[in-house]
Amino acid sequence: PGTIETRAPGKLFIAGEYAVVEPGQPSVLIAVDRYLTVTLSESVGHAAGSVHSPEYGLIPLTWTRGDSGLTIDREHHPYDYVMAVIGTVEQLRGELGIPARFYDLRIASELDDASGRKFGLGSSAAVTVATVHALDRFYELGLTARERFKLALLATIQVSPNASGGDVAASTFGGWIRYSAPNRATLRAQLDDRPLREVLSGDGWEGFDVARLAPPHGLRLLVGWTGSPASTERLVGGVRRSRRDSGVDYPAFLLESRGCVDDLVSGLDDGDDDLTLDALRRARRLLQRLGAQSGTLIETDRLARLCDTAEAAGAAGKPSGAGGGDCGIVLAPADADLTRMLRSWESHDIRHLTLSVHPPEGSV
Ligand code: MEV
Repeated sequence: PGTIETRAPGKLFIAGEYAVVEPGQPSVLIAVDRYLTVTLSESVGHAAGSVHSPEYGLIPLTWTRGDSGLTIDREHHPYDYVMAVIGTVEQLRGELGIPARFYDLRIASELDDASGRKFGLGSSAAVTVATVHALDRFYELGLTARERFKLALLATIQVSPNASGGDVAASTFGGWIRYSAPNRATLRAQLDDRPLREVLSGDGWEGFDVARLAPPHGLRLLVGWTGSPASTERLVGGVRRSRRDSGVDYPAFLLESRGCVDDLVSGLDDGDDDLTLDALRRARRLLQRLGAQSGTLIETDRLARLCDTAEAAGAAGKPSGAGGGDCGIVLAPADADLTRMLRSWESHDIRHLTLSVHPPEGSV
């Protein structure tokens, strides 16, 4: 038995955050060349196998013998993304009549800094995508990238029911993508009473769409890290609650977000950098308004500085993802002088992460 190594890239949201949790609402994301790696080796010496991750340490896997052979015993594990993937893929494996085998999984990540703080580059999605891929190869399931995405999303929503899956899509497909989500509540309900095989190929995926985008030619991408990890779940929860009881005009927000994303996509398609930059600046203002109306701190002081200094240099900047910390992105015309921006970042503890787009992998 050999060793299988898979890696999945991190991601950044370019536009469409928050809105993208609604089925069918478009967003734009990229995959970046920082990776999470999963190494799978068949466990021959000891039965059962294990998961070894920097976050949880060593977790022995436990199995139950039932009518349909061995199944993973999900009750006895911390309910994180890796375990959700293992449970989900093992279920599919059982449905396909493939015998279970034991394995050790080892996880290594470039998506945190030296002291283990997350950059906010989608480490949960990357571990999910890389683990699906490793098990797909181990059991020779022969899944397409689309099927791996769907499986990864079904695992994700068992841990984080409202997650849009944009990060899972970026990490699966690479490059620049436009993404909109299926209705995850519908999919979760199906998981309860249909075989996984049927859910994967069934009709619960309306709203899901992924398309490749041409990267901008005349614009540079820069990323600044604020050093403060943000809780996406808390931020999305805050916005959701305020939608019910206060001043967010949610339909208007969704409409404007769609407008920004559509213009951004047109800007990229037509190589119209001015339109791309304008769409990004509007996307920033939209998130600012959403934050103000919902009483949620999306654009922190450091993110505001990151974006303001970009705009002062003739570029466009915005928080990437839920905000509240993590990273901000900047798109800058090739000839923009960014010296002052970068100096200001440095003096305000905003770390310039030098990274590039991870290239597209296959077709979507
Ligand atoms: C968080 O990275 C982005 C949000 O749109 C949430 C999600 O897409 O699941 C705020």
